[in-house]
Amino acid sequence: MKERLVCLGIESTAHTFGVGIATTGKTGGRILANVIKQFTTRKGGIIPAEAAEHHVDICDVAITEALAAAAITLKDVDIVSFSQGPGIGNCLRVGAAAARTLSLAHKKPLVGVNHCISHLEIGKLLTAAKDPVLLYVSGANTQVIAFETGKYRIFGETLDIGVGNMLDVFARHIGIGFPGGPRIMRLATAGKRYIELPYVVKGMDVSFGGILTNIKRKYDSGDYRKEDLCYSLQETVFAMLVETAERALAHTGKSELLLGGGVACNTRLQEMCRAMCEERGAKLFVPERQFLVDNGAMIAWLGILEYLKGTRTQVEKSEILPYWRTDEA
Ligand code: ATP
Ligand code: FE2
Repeated sequence: MKERLVCLGIESTAHTFGVGIATTGKTGGRILANVIKQFTTRKGGIIPAEAAEHHVDICDVAITEALAAAAITLKDVDIVSFSQGPGIGNCLRVGAAAARTLSLAHKKPLVGVNHCISHLEIGKLLTAAKDPVLLYVSGANTQVIAFETGKYRIFGETLDIGVGNMLDVFARHIGIGFPGGPRIMRLATAGKRYIELPYVVKGMDVSFGGILTNIKRKYDSGDYRKEDLCYSLQETVFAMLVETAERALAHTGKSELLLGGGVACNTRLQEMCRAMCEERGAKLFVPERQFLVDNGAMIAWLGILEYLKGTRTQVEKSEILPYWRTDEA
């Protein structure tokens, strides 16, 4: 086996088209490039066909930029990996097609990887976390994941929408634009009063639909300041997330909490997670922003790990898996 493996990974589950390059060798794993190209609209939301068109347009540029950043050529690449799922069909198809093309044209093995698991594995590579519980909070996803008895398991998840999408919808409703998460975070700092909202934890799972309906009605009534609503929304839903994460720590007996996903950029959520970890003698790990949001580096890194385990995805069997569950990977 080659002493140094280089993997080019393609991410395209939703808004982001990302190309990352990871390598492994005697000194362990390293990220050589992480190019992130985002499709955004002023109003937010996602029209799958438009996002896919963006990904098609940007694909060549992103691959070229990643190779240049890593100072390598396609000849130096040993493995091509891609996000096989879960995600939006139109978007996933672009990344998969680009990966298949590179694999066939340059005769490189192809490895399809699970997007959610890649958030966990990149955190383990880039922080000191060894066997963490991952709180994965993005636009479409809200999951508490950990590796236990030979398998990745989901210890809790949203029963309806992802926490990021919920924040984005509320932000759009109150006219503060997209992406909603960071704007709500800013307004929340000027919040003075906690307004009671539904707190929905069912067993280990969470749900945001009812909270969204409730807070939209409160805003429409005109009786509340939007700063107070943003503050209360964050306090409520983050407490729900922290509670589920804490239960997973208790259940698994693990002592490391890792954050992943765009919503994990939120400093208030980080603060609440840190407080919970301190209280129970656990450690919190937060990768830097470019590795929290969707990115190709995590796909490249998981590509290497899967390849080393023997995973090879035949082109005929490389169909996208929009509903691929973490516990089926
Ligand atoms: P996927 O769900 O497929 O992983 P995504 O397109 O939602 O992908 P991310 O980049 O992980 O990708 O997350 C975007 C989400 O993160 C948006 O909903 C955005 O509002 C939210 N977000 C970004 N920054 C913050 C923040 N500071 N506070 C809260 N939410 C944030
Ligand atoms: Fe993600």
